[in-house]
Amino acid sequence: MEFQNKVIDEAVQGTATVLESKNNEGRKVYIESYGCQMNFSDSEIVASILTGKGYQTTQHLEEADVVLVNTCSIRDKAEQTIRQRLTVFNKEKKKKPELIIGVLGCMAERLKTQLLEEEKIVDIVAGPDAYRDLPNLVAQVDEGKRAVNVILSKEETYADISPVRLLSNGVTAFISITRGCDNMCTFCVVPFTRGRERSRNPESILAEAQDLFNKGFREVTLLGQNVDSYLWYGEDGLKKNYETLSEEEKAQSTTFAKLMEKVALISPQLRVRFSTSHPKDITDEFLEVMAKYDNICKYIHLPVQSGSNCILELMNRGYTREWYMNRIDKIKEIMPDCAISSDIIAGFCTETEEDHQDTLAMMDYVKYDFGYMFNYSERPNTLAQRKFKDDVPQEVKSRRLAEIIAKQNQHSLERNKAYVGKTFEVLVEKTSKRSENELAGRTSQNTVVVFPKENYNIGDYVTVFITDCTGGTLLGKAVG
Ligand code: 5AD
Ligand code: SF4
Repeated sequence: MEFQNKVIDEAVQGTATVLESKNNEGRKVYIESYGCQMNFSDSEIVASILTGKGYQTTQHLEEADVVLVNTCSIRDKAEQTIRQRLTVFNKEKKKKPELIIGVLGCMAERLKTQLLEEEKIVDIVAGPDAYRDLPNLVAQVDEGKRAVNVILSKEETYADISPVRLLSNGVTAFISITRGCDNMCTFCVVPFTRGRERSRNPESILAEAQDLFNKGFREVTLLGQNVDSYLWYGEDGLKKNYETLSEEEKAQSTTFAKLMEKVALISPQLRVRFSTSHPKDITDEFLEVMAKYDNICKYIHLPVQSGSNCILELMNRGYTREWYMNRIDKIKEIMPDCAISSDIIAGFCTETEEDHQDTLAMMDYVKYDFGYMFNYSERPNTLAQRKFKDDVPQEVKSRRLAEIIAKQNQHSLERNKAYVGKTFEVLVEKTSKRSENELAGRTSQNTVVVFPKENYNIGDYVTVFITDCTGGTLLGKAVG
């Protein structure tokens, strides 16, 4: 799942209800989100919970009564960015002492009471499973009490909460299908900050997707740390190991492949995307479902992390480079037009030049359409931090990362050049940043296409002939 720092905020109409402790009518909450798509999706759940209690959301920090920052701990840099924002919010609080500052998400979970009690730079700390408690936590601050809830749950999926779509283009939306992660990749803080993996009731997922479609949305992205391990079994969804189920139980359960098919069947006019796939869990059955439905977008984010078997083992990824290459072969066999992207970490513990060359060779093998590439950043209390030495010097990490990025840029450009002269169906998402007279959307393969607006509108499916490209964008002209 990829990481971008972007501000989320928006004015929405809250459904005002009476609150026991305080009348929140008109009380304004400003929400900023960092990190993965899951965080952006969670902020929409937070907005829903608070507007349900009479709050309004605002895009303007100066107007806010409550500032919430939904945080990311994945790399140290992400936490530093958020700390800078907390400094800005505290300056605002100097001007307006009644301002309430809350930290949500992974950093809240990781640091627990530290930001509140030791550093004293926030009033509320709420972990990813504590958002239902937010109105109560604000009420506690109103009463002058400390407000912390970092309890992780084995059940919470917020299944019944209808997210308030923040900064929505009215065309594309995220739907969370699982929370947490059980994989324990040794470099990763997520299993500690987001807790155990749990799947959401399929009925609630389908109802949310149908509701979005009825409201005019034309694309949903199903989100989870590892969507392939989605499994709903029986009435309570109790997660079992699929392989241990009897044939009858397997028939009754909903796997990711089955869920995908059900969402795809809502309408051929509704595009379906998903993120993130895991190389050890992505099944042929799922790939067959993907191939069967035109409206399931032909794009898979399949993070490899490293091309070296030795490093993959140390990372506890659960697959070898040969296994990964077999998955790639299978994808290309079943869907020759499918785009594939990856996450790659440069300079993990003990990584030698040879390991690094294995990663570059893997990139040459797959020729990823997109890549998200990072220097290894040691995270406190992860398995890698406890067991291994972060022994690759910073300048070596950076040089290797630069080589990985250069190769990816070359592959992305080659791929885009090969698209010139072809036609693609584009779902229009917005007006182009470059010009009011151009629209921007994406192909099924997730590549951005910009073309002259003519009489087309946001939300339309438009067939576009590609005339030119840059490394990141295709340029074209509508042909119908
Ligand atoms: N250092 C660098 N990158 C990391 N990621 C996760 N943890 C770390 C870390 N400690 C990357 C992985 C993952 C993506 C979301 O972030 O590549 O797939
Ligand atoms: Fe982290 Fe691995 Fe889980 Fe992804 S699959 S969230 S990298 S532990």
